[in-house]
Amino acid sequence: MKNLFKLSDISIAEIMEIILESLRFKAGMKYDKLVGKRVINAFFEPSTRTQYSFISAEQNLGMIATNFNVETSSVKKGESLYDTMKTFEMIGYDIAIVRHPTIRYYEELEGVGIPILSGGDGSGSHPTQSLLDLMTIYEEFGRFEGLKIAFIGDIRHSRVAHTNIEIMNRLGMETYTTGPQGFDDGSAPFINYERALCEMDVIMLLRVQFERHEYDMTLDRDQYYNEYGMTQARVAMLKEKAIIMHPAPYNRGIEISNYAVECSKSRIMKQMQNGVFVRMAVLKRAFE
Ligand code: CP
Repeated sequence: MKNLFKLSDISIAEIMEIILESLRFKAGMKYDKLVGKRVINAFFEPSTRTQYSFISAEQNLGMIATNFNVETSSVKKGESLYDTMKTFEMIGYDIAIVRHPTIRYYEELEGVGIPILSGGDGSGSHPTQSLLDLMTIYEEFGRFEGLKIAFIGDIRHSRVAHTNIEIMNRLGMETYTTGPQGFDDGSAPFINYERALCEMDVIMLLRVQFERHEYDMTLDRDQYYNEYGMTQARVAMLKEKAIIMHPAPYNRGIEISNYAVECSKSRIMKQMQNGVFVRMAVLKRAFE
């Protein structure tokens, strides 16, 4: 049984194996050993891509998927996360997918006897998002070593940026942050915004997480778009082979223009597609 909480627990060799396995699933590999296994998708925070691509992955593997509804559950009577997950184990689920707003929520779950795959822990980690980002970069460039990536925007609140910076550094990529300095938390070297646009192989835009801001932003939405939004003019400044990524959901007209979402340099739609194959690979791995 293999949990998946954060990529910093996993060796580079195993990360590469997950990426290659995801590519094999994308190429049509069949796998029937999970047919009939019961999975509970327990999302305590809103999610579209992670939740439904896990469901799609589970269906592709012939698993029996159930979605937990927090609002109609005994969580509303004060039941703890541990007791909720232990209940799922006792009533016959084989594996759980959990997204929870508490950073490192999984530390509470020691003693649960089914594998748990994290769909994100607050502003901590988002391992399957990073894996699908890595798969998308690997498909594009066929390597990681030496590639330059800049994260633009709300680094401080982004579990995607935190997870990606750690693993991308280990894979030999050069990681940078840019955008408003108030969003920066020192996770990677900060570089000038124009320099980032002109020099990077990958630009990863981040959603401005208005729901996590405990302080007022110094920029309003129009100012953010004017100063840092990925407009058509800024897309034109990127290197010929550079790509634009975004974990989504994106704020159109704030960090990204309508034009950039589906322009020829955007890999945002591919990231969403690849999420299904990465989640198939980590479901398979959980039972190995
Ligand atoms: N990228 C991502 O985690 O999206 P959702 O919040 O919709 O799952």
